[in-house]
Amino acid sequence: MEVLNFRSDTQTLPTEEMLDAIRYAQLGDDVYGEDPTVARLEALAAEKMGMEAALLVASGTMGNLVSLMTHASGPGEALLVDPSSHIFRNEGGGLASIAGYFPIPISSRHGKLDPDEVAASVYEPDIHYPTPHLLCLENSHNRSGGRVTPLDLHKKLCSTARQHGLAIHLDGARIFNAAVAAGVGVSEYAAEVDSIQFCLSKGLSCPVGSMIAGSAEFIEKARFHRKRIGGGMRQAGVIAAAGIVALETMIDRLRDDHANARLLAEGLNTIPGLNVPMDAVETNIINVDHTGTGLSTQAVISKLNEVGVIVSPRAPTAIRMVTCRHTGEPEVTEALARIKQALQ
Ligand SMILES: Cc1ncc(COP(=O)(O)O)c(C=O)c1O
Repeated sequence: MEVLNFRSDTQTLPTEEMLDAIRYAQLGDDVYGEDPTVARLEALAAEKMGMEAALLVASGTMGNLVSLMTHASGPGEALLVDPSSHIFRNEGGGLASIAGYFPIPISSRHGKLDPDEVAASVYEPDIHYPTPHLLCLENSHNRSGGRVTPLDLHKKLCSTARQHGLAIHLDGARIFNAAVAAGVGVSEYAAEVDSIQFCLSKGLSCPVGSMIAGSAEFIEKARFHRKRIGGGMRQAGVIAAAGIVALETMIDRLRDDHANARLLAEGLNTIPGLNVPMDAVETNIINVDHTGTGLSTQAVISKLNEVGVIVSPRAPTAIRMVTCRHTGEPEVTEALARIKQALQ
Protein backbone atom coordinates (compact mmCIF):
# COMPACT_ATOMS: atom_id res chain seq x y z
CA MET A 1 0.00 0.00 0.00
CA GLU A 2 1.38 3.40 -1.00
CA VAL A 3 1.75 5.69 2.00
CA LEU A 4 -0.03 9.05 1.55
CA ASN A 5 1.92 11.62 3.51
CA PHE A 6 -0.05 14.71 4.52
CA ARG A 7 2.14 15.48 7.53
CA SER A 8 3.86 18.60 6.18
CA ASP A 9 5.08 20.35 3.05
CA THR A 10 8.57 19.93 4.57
CA GLN A 11 8.38 16.34 3.27
CA THR A 12 8.71 17.45 -0.36
CA LEU A 13 11.54 15.92 -2.37
CA PRO A 14 13.67 17.83 -4.88
CA THR A 15 12.50 17.86 -8.51
CA GLU A 16 14.56 16.27 -11.30
CA GLU A 17 15.48 19.77 -12.45
CA MET A 18 16.78 20.56 -8.96
CA LEU A 19 18.86 17.38 -8.90
CA ASP A 20 20.36 18.27 -12.31
CA ALA A 21 21.07 21.81 -11.12
CA ILE A 22 22.79 20.45 -8.00
CA ARG A 23 24.88 18.06 -10.13
CA TYR A 24 26.14 20.81 -12.44
CA ALA A 25 26.34 23.73 -9.97
CA GLN A 26 29.49 25.84 -9.99
CA LEU A 27 30.90 25.73 -6.48
CA GLY A 28 33.32 27.66 -4.27
CA ASP A 29 33.89 28.33 -0.58
CA ASP A 30 30.99 30.53 0.50
CA VAL A 31 32.62 31.45 3.83
CA TYR A 32 35.15 33.27 1.64
CA GLY A 33 32.27 34.65 -0.47
CA GLU A 34 33.43 32.54 -3.42
CA ASP A 35 30.47 30.34 -4.29
CA PRO A 36 28.94 31.75 -7.49
CA THR A 37 25.75 29.68 -7.17
CA VAL A 38 25.08 30.99 -3.66
CA ALA A 39 25.72 34.52 -4.90
CA ARG A 40 23.18 33.99 -7.73
CA LEU A 41 20.55 32.65 -5.35
CA GLU A 42 21.06 35.49 -2.88
CA ALA A 43 20.74 38.08 -5.67
CA LEU A 44 17.62 36.37 -7.00
CA ALA A 45 16.03 36.15 -3.53
CA ALA A 46 16.73 39.84 -2.87
CA GLU A 47 15.21 40.75 -6.23
CA LYS A 48 12.07 38.67 -5.58
CA MET A 49 11.61 40.37 -2.21
CA GLY A 50 12.42 43.81 -3.58
CA MET A 51 15.06 44.17 -0.88
CA GLU A 52 18.72 45.12 -1.09
CA ALA A 53 20.28 41.83 -0.09
CA ALA A 54 19.63 38.26 0.99
CA LEU A 55 21.43 35.48 2.83
CA LEU A 56 21.19 31.70 2.54
CA VAL A 57 20.73 29.87 5.85
CA ALA A 58 20.26 26.21 6.71
CA SER A 59 16.66 26.35 7.91
CA GLY A 60 13.69 28.52 8.74
CA THR A 61 14.53 28.28 12.42
CA MET A 62 18.07 29.49 11.73
CA GLY A 63 16.70 32.27 9.53
CA ASN A 64 14.43 33.52 12.30
CA LEU A 65 17.13 33.19 14.97
CA VAL A 66 19.81 34.96 12.92
CA SER A 67 17.30 37.72 12.10
CA LEU A 68 16.46 38.20 15.78
CA MET A 69 20.16 38.19 16.75
CA THR A 70 20.72 40.84 14.10
CA HIS A 71 17.88 43.04 15.37
CA ALA A 72 18.82 42.69 19.06
CA SER A 73 21.02 45.32 20.63
CA GLY A 74 21.36 43.81 24.11
CA PRO A 75 20.03 41.15 26.49
CA GLY A 76 16.57 41.72 27.92
CA GLU A 77 15.30 43.91 25.12
CA ALA A 78 11.66 43.04 24.42
CA LEU A 79 9.80 41.94 21.32
CA LEU A 80 6.11 41.51 20.62
CA VAL A 81 5.33 37.98 19.48
CA ASP A 82 2.26 35.80 19.01
CA PRO A 83 2.46 32.87 21.50
CA SER A 84 1.05 30.58 18.80
CA SER A 85 3.76 31.58 16.33
CA HIS A 86 6.55 29.26 15.24
CA ILE A 87 9.17 31.65 16.62
CA PHE A 88 7.62 31.50 20.09
CA ARG A 89 6.50 27.86 20.27
CA ASN A 90 8.65 25.79 18.00
CA GLU A 91 12.18 27.15 17.97
CA GLY A 92 13.51 25.90 21.29
CA GLY A 93 13.16 29.28 22.94
CA GLY A 94 16.13 30.60 20.91
CA LEU A 95 14.55 34.04 20.85
CA ALA A 96 15.33 34.29 24.59
CA SER A 97 18.18 31.86 25.22
CA ILE A 98 20.31 32.88 22.22
CA ALA A 99 19.02 36.21 20.86
CA GLY A 100 18.42 37.50 24.42
CA TYR A 101 14.90 38.80 23.84
CA PHE A 102 12.21 39.08 26.48
CA PRO A 103 8.98 38.08 24.69
CA ILE A 104 5.81 40.09 25.26
CA PRO A 105 2.98 37.84 24.05
CA ILE A 106 0.35 39.29 21.76
CA SER A 107 -2.21 36.76 20.58
CA SER A 108 -3.45 36.35 17.04
CA ARG A 109 -6.97 35.34 16.07
CA HIS A 110 -7.17 33.08 13.02
CA GLY A 111 -3.48 33.84 12.61
CA LYS A 112 -3.99 37.60 12.47
CA LEU A 113 -2.77 40.22 14.94
CA ASP A 114 -4.82 43.28 15.82
CA PRO A 115 -3.10 46.66 15.23
CA ASP A 116 -4.86 48.13 18.30
CA GLU A 117 -3.42 45.37 20.47
CA VAL A 118 0.03 46.00 19.00
CA ALA A 119 -0.31 49.66 19.95
CA ALA A 120 -1.60 48.79 23.44
CA SER A 121 1.33 46.43 24.05
CA VAL A 122 3.92 49.18 23.71
CA TYR A 123 4.01 50.67 27.20
CA GLU A 124 4.97 54.23 27.94
CA PRO A 125 8.60 54.32 29.15
CA ASP A 126 8.63 53.32 32.83
CA ILE A 127 11.36 51.74 34.93
CA HIS A 128 9.09 48.71 35.60
CA TYR A 129 8.57 47.69 31.99
CA PRO A 130 10.78 46.19 29.32
CA THR A 131 10.57 48.33 26.19
CA PRO A 132 9.69 46.43 23.02
CA HIS A 133 11.81 47.21 19.96
CA LEU A 134 10.61 44.58 17.52
CA LEU A 135 7.33 43.12 16.23
CA CYS A 136 7.34 39.55 14.88
CA LEU A 137 4.78 38.57 12.27
CA GLU A 138 4.06 35.18 10.66
CA ASN A 139 2.40 34.82 7.25
CA SER A 140 0.96 32.39 6.33
CA HIS A 141 0.31 31.39 9.91
CA ASN A 142 1.11 27.74 10.49
CA ARG A 143 -0.75 26.91 13.70
CA SER A 144 -4.01 28.55 12.66
CA GLY A 145 -4.08 26.33 9.55
CA GLY A 146 -2.17 28.39 6.99
CA ARG A 147 -4.29 31.52 7.45
CA VAL A 148 -3.24 34.59 5.48
CA THR A 149 -2.88 38.12 6.83
CA PRO A 150 -4.19 40.20 3.92
CA LEU A 151 -1.97 42.96 2.59
CA ASP A 152 -4.12 45.82 3.93
CA LEU A 153 -4.02 44.43 7.48
CA HIS A 154 -0.28 43.69 7.11
CA LYS A 155 0.27 47.34 6.12
CA LYS A 156 -1.81 48.54 9.07
CA LEU A 157 0.13 46.35 11.51
CA CYS A 158 3.45 47.57 10.13
CA SER A 159 2.48 51.24 10.17
CA THR A 160 1.26 50.87 13.77
CA ALA A 161 4.56 49.23 14.69
CA ARG A 162 6.52 52.04 13.01
CA GLN A 163 4.49 54.71 14.83
CA HIS A 164 5.57 53.08 18.09
CA GLY A 165 9.21 52.83 17.10
CA LEU A 166 9.25 49.08 16.48
CA ALA A 167 11.31 47.32 13.84
CA ILE A 168 9.51 44.43 12.10
CA HIS A 169 10.57 40.86 11.36
CA LEU A 170 8.32 38.68 9.20
CA ASP A 171 8.52 34.91 9.55
CA GLY A 172 7.49 34.23 5.98
CA ALA A 173 8.35 30.54 5.98
CA ARG A 174 5.36 30.24 3.61
CA ILE A 175 5.15 33.83 2.36
CA PHE A 176 4.81 32.62 -1.23
CA ASN A 177 1.71 30.63 -0.22
CA ALA A 178 0.32 33.75 1.44
CA ALA A 179 1.08 36.00 -1.52
CA VAL A 180 -0.31 33.55 -4.09
CA ALA A 181 -3.49 33.15 -2.00
CA ALA A 182 -3.83 36.92 -1.50
CA GLY A 183 -3.18 37.57 -5.19
CA VAL A 184 -0.40 40.08 -4.51
CA GLY A 185 3.34 40.13 -5.14
CA VAL A 186 5.49 38.87 -2.32
CA SER A 187 7.54 42.09 -2.49
CA GLU A 188 4.44 44.03 -1.41
CA TYR A 189 4.55 42.20 1.91
CA ALA A 190 8.34 42.48 2.15
CA ALA A 191 8.27 46.24 1.44
CA GLU A 192 6.69 46.87 4.85
CA VAL A 193 9.19 45.00 7.02
CA ASP A 194 12.87 45.24 7.98
CA SER A 195 13.63 41.56 7.66
CA ILE A 196 11.93 38.53 6.23
CA GLN A 197 12.75 34.85 6.49
CA PHE A 198 11.32 32.46 3.90
CA CYS A 199 11.78 28.74 3.35
CA LEU A 200 12.92 27.00 0.17
CA SER A 201 12.38 23.59 1.73
CA LYS A 202 8.60 23.59 2.17
CA GLY A 203 6.10 23.90 -0.71
CA LEU A 204 8.92 25.09 -2.99
CA SER A 205 10.37 21.55 -2.76
CA CYS A 206 14.05 22.16 -2.05
CA PRO A 207 15.77 19.55 0.08
CA VAL A 208 17.17 22.18 2.46
CA GLY A 209 17.54 25.93 2.90
CA SER A 210 15.89 29.20 3.81
CA MET A 211 16.64 32.83 3.02
CA ILE A 212 16.77 36.04 5.02
CA ALA A 213 16.26 39.29 3.12
CA GLY A 214 16.69 42.89 4.28
CA SER A 215 18.83 45.96 3.76
CA ALA A 216 22.46 45.48 2.71
CA GLU A 217 23.53 46.60 6.19
CA PHE A 218 21.16 44.16 7.90
CA ILE A 219 22.36 41.25 5.78
CA GLU A 220 26.02 42.08 6.41
CA LYS A 221 25.35 41.89 10.17
CA ALA A 222 23.24 38.75 9.71
CA ARG A 223 26.17 37.09 7.89
CA PHE A 224 28.27 37.66 11.04
CA HIS A 225 25.58 36.18 13.30
CA ARG A 226 25.08 33.20 10.97
CA LYS A 227 28.81 32.48 11.27
CA ARG A 228 28.72 32.87 15.07
CA ILE A 229 26.18 30.09 15.40
CA GLY A 230 28.08 27.81 13.05
CA GLY A 231 26.00 28.49 9.98
CA GLY A 232 28.78 29.53 7.61
CA MET A 233 28.64 26.89 4.90
CA ARG A 234 31.38 26.01 2.44
CA GLN A 235 30.33 24.68 -1.02
CA ALA A 236 26.74 25.69 -0.29
CA GLY A 237 26.06 26.02 -4.01
CA VAL A 238 24.73 22.45 -3.83
CA ILE A 239 21.90 23.88 -1.71
CA ALA A 240 21.59 27.14 -3.62
CA ALA A 241 21.30 25.44 -7.01
CA ALA A 242 17.99 23.88 -5.98
CA GLY A 243 16.89 27.20 -4.49
CA ILE A 244 17.35 28.95 -7.83
CA VAL A 245 15.15 26.35 -9.55
CA ALA A 246 12.57 26.81 -6.77
CA LEU A 247 12.39 30.59 -7.13
CA GLU A 248 12.32 30.40 -10.92
CA THR A 249 9.80 27.59 -11.40
CA MET A 250 7.98 26.47 -8.25
CA ILE A 251 6.06 29.50 -6.99
CA ASP A 252 3.00 29.62 -9.24
CA ARG A 253 2.23 25.93 -8.77
CA LEU A 254 1.53 26.57 -5.06
CA ARG A 255 -2.00 27.42 -6.17
CA ASP A 256 -2.44 23.72 -7.03
CA ASP A 257 -1.59 22.86 -3.40
CA HIS A 258 -4.21 25.37 -2.23
CA ALA A 259 -6.85 23.96 -4.60
CA ASN A 260 -6.07 20.43 -3.43
CA ALA A 261 -6.35 21.53 0.22
CA ARG A 262 -9.88 22.79 -0.55
CA LEU A 263 -10.76 19.55 -2.30
CA LEU A 264 -9.46 17.63 0.70
CA ALA A 265 -11.38 19.81 3.17
CA GLU A 266 -14.64 19.47 1.20
CA GLY A 267 -14.23 15.69 1.18
CA LEU A 268 -13.37 15.53 4.89
CA ASN A 269 -16.55 17.46 5.67
CA THR A 270 -18.59 14.57 4.18
CA ILE A 271 -17.02 12.11 6.64
CA PRO A 272 -19.03 11.79 9.89
CA GLY A 273 -17.22 13.22 12.92
CA LEU A 274 -14.82 15.46 10.97
CA ASN A 275 -15.18 19.19 10.44
CA VAL A 276 -13.17 21.81 8.58
CA PRO A 277 -14.69 25.32 8.31
CA MET A 278 -14.20 26.07 4.61
CA ASP A 279 -13.48 29.76 5.22
CA ALA A 280 -10.42 28.65 7.18
CA VAL A 281 -8.88 26.92 4.14
CA GLU A 282 -6.83 29.66 2.55
CA THR A 283 -3.57 27.92 1.61
CA ASN A 284 -2.15 24.40 1.88
CA ILE A 285 -2.62 23.67 5.61
CA ILE A 286 -5.85 22.46 7.17
CA ASN A 287 -6.74 21.79 10.77
CA VAL A 288 -9.38 19.06 10.90
CA ASP A 289 -11.58 19.03 13.99
CA HIS A 290 -12.23 15.40 14.94
CA THR A 291 -14.27 15.90 18.14
CA GLY A 292 -17.36 14.45 16.41
CA THR A 293 -15.60 11.07 16.15
CA GLY A 294 -15.42 10.80 19.97
CA LEU A 295 -11.80 9.64 19.57
CA SER A 296 -8.59 11.12 20.96
CA THR A 297 -6.20 12.76 18.52
CA GLN A 298 -3.77 9.87 18.94
CA ALA A 299 -6.51 7.33 18.27
CA VAL A 300 -7.49 9.15 15.05
CA ILE A 301 -3.85 9.26 13.94
CA SER A 302 -3.38 5.55 14.65
CA LYS A 303 -6.49 4.64 12.65
CA LEU A 304 -5.27 6.72 9.72
CA ASN A 305 -1.79 5.22 9.96
CA GLU A 306 -3.36 1.76 9.65
CA VAL A 307 -4.72 2.73 6.24
CA GLY A 308 -1.46 4.39 5.18
CA VAL A 309 -2.43 8.04 5.69
CA ILE A 310 0.08 10.11 7.68
CA VAL A 311 -1.03 13.33 9.41
CA SER A 312 0.15 15.52 12.32
CA PRO A 313 -1.51 16.03 15.70
CA ARG A 314 -3.15 19.28 16.75
CA ALA A 315 -4.25 17.76 20.06
CA PRO A 316 -6.65 17.59 21.77
CA THR A 317 -9.29 18.36 19.13
CA ALA A 318 -7.70 18.31 15.70
CA ILE A 319 -5.28 16.80 13.23
CA ARG A 320 -3.31 18.80 10.70
CA MET A 321 -3.11 17.89 7.02
CA VAL A 322 -0.85 19.72 4.55
CA THR A 323 -0.89 19.43 0.77
CA CYS A 324 2.24 19.65 -1.39
CA ARG A 325 3.33 18.62 -4.87
CA HIS A 326 3.32 14.93 -3.88
CA THR A 327 -0.33 15.04 -2.81
CA GLY A 328 -2.26 16.03 -5.91
CA GLU A 329 -5.88 15.29 -6.80
CA PRO A 330 -5.44 11.49 -7.14
CA GLU A 331 -3.74 11.25 -3.73
CA VAL A 332 -6.42 13.45 -2.14
CA THR A 333 -9.20 11.28 -3.61
CA GLU A 334 -7.47 8.10 -2.43
CA ALA A 335 -6.80 9.57 1.05
CA LEU A 336 -10.46 10.54 1.44
CA ALA A 337 -11.60 7.01 0.59
CA ARG A 338 -9.12 5.52 3.09
CA ILE A 339 -10.01 7.99 5.88
CA LYS A 340 -13.71 7.27 5.42
CA GLN A 341 -13.03 3.55 5.68
CA ALA A 342 -10.76 3.97 8.73
CA LEU A 343 -13.25 6.05 10.73
CA GLN A 344 -16.52 4.35 9.88
C1 LIG B 1 5.94 29.41 10.22
C2 LIG B 1 7.22 28.65 10.30
N1 LIG B 1 8.35 29.30 10.58
C3 LIG B 1 9.53 28.68 10.66
C4 LIG B 1 9.61 27.32 10.45
C5 LIG B 1 10.94 26.65 10.62
O1 LIG B 1 11.45 26.07 9.48
P1 LIG B 1 12.54 24.89 9.59
O2 LIG B 1 11.76 23.65 9.87
O3 LIG B 1 13.18 24.91 8.24
O4 LIG B 1 13.47 25.22 10.68
C6 LIG B 1 8.46 26.58 10.16
C7 LIG B 1 8.54 25.13 9.95
O5 LIG B 1 7.56 24.45 9.78
C8 LIG B 1 7.22 27.27 10.08
O6 LIG B 1 6.08 26.63 9.83
